Amino acid sequence: MSDLQAIVDSAKTAFAACTAPADLENAKAQYLGKTGRITELMKGMAALSVEEKKSLGAQINVTKQAVEAALNARREALMDAAMNAQLATEALDVTLPGRARASGGLHPVSLTQERIESIFGSMGFDVADGPEIENDWFNFTALNTPEDHPARSMHDTFYVEPLDGVATDTPPLLRTHTSPMQIRHATAHVKAWRARQAVAGNGAATEGACDSMPEIRVIAPGRTYRVDSDATHSPMFHQCEGLWIGENVSFKDLKVVFTDFCKTFFESDDLVLRFRPSFFPFTEPSAEIDIQFASGPLAGRWLEVAGSGQVHPNVVRNMGLDPERYIGFAFGMGMDRLTMLRYGVNDLRLFFDGDLRFLSQFQ
Ligand code: PHE
Repeated sequence: MSDLQAIVDSAKTAFAACTAPADLENAKAQYLGKTGRITELMKGMAALSVEEKKSLGAQINVTKQAVEAALNARREALMDAAMNAQLATEALDVTLPGRARASGGLHPVSLTQERIESIFGSMGFDVADGPEIENDWFNFTALNTPEDHPARSMHDTFYVEPLDGVATDTPPLLRTHTSPMQIRHATAHVKAWRARQAVAGNGAATEGACDSMPEIRVIAPGRTYRVDSDATHSPMFHQCEGLWIGENVSFKDLKVVFTDFCKTFFESDDLVLRFRPSFFPFTEPSAEIDIQFASGPLAGRWLEVAGSGQVHPNVVRNMGLDPERYIGFAFGMGMDRLTMLRYGVNDLRLFFDGDLRFLSQFQ
């Protein structure tokens, strides 16, 4: 009897010493396994008389149950401990404030572009988009730019390898201005108009008095590239081209449209424009457009915002139109410049550094 109690006590001590489930299963084997102490006791009963079997058997059973109970208690205790440890490491405090995800916003130059598109949109201008990798024809030749023009030189313009590896006389280039879009958009416009004429049976090739072309009125904003880098020049910058071609579009219309645009863009009637005579191969006459604010930090200074002019007859011809009949104006404005003026930013490079402390101020 005291032997049996000793077995129970030693089992309890052995189980209590186990800190991992695997240890506990090993300890269990020493008592309840095939050669465990209780199993051995039961085997030993075979040699006993019926009377002895009865009394000792009952006592062994009690012992066995006590060992099993101790085993189960320890098993549960270990499981609880494991669960508590896990809960402690995965603690979730549902009362903590959530981690807010910063909401993005548009880049200040994109805000300017949207503004330009909506203002010119309200004046009936389409918005066109075109390739940044251009060819010589659209960027220079079609725009009446002579072979020896400095803009064509390697140190003013980024030339790139032809994609298909086919050598050409004139490698592709990163467009140096948005003016190629004048030719691209106008030729597409003219082609579509002539196709409609052909369908209508109006005589595709002849431009009779009754089949006048719908006016070309378009802006083309986008990225442009030049080999240039300082506080006011970046190798990549943004321009927006404007083009209006019709039968009776004059320099006066350019002045009205651009003045209207500037007043709306800067939300001010307190500014004046100056059309300063200049030169561009693709316009004649040509003018730089300067603006001057009457008040504010920039008051009194003339600030250049665009190049402009009446589209040169050679360019009108390259659009597929008769320059004796069609006439109009074009302008190209610096969108980064307009953004700097609108927000009072004095270093262009800030726009392209990607510093959120700067960019988030425009949201
Ligand atoms: N393309 C010229 C430039 O980049 C600007 C311009 C556009 C001038 C259209 C006249 C007409 O400087």
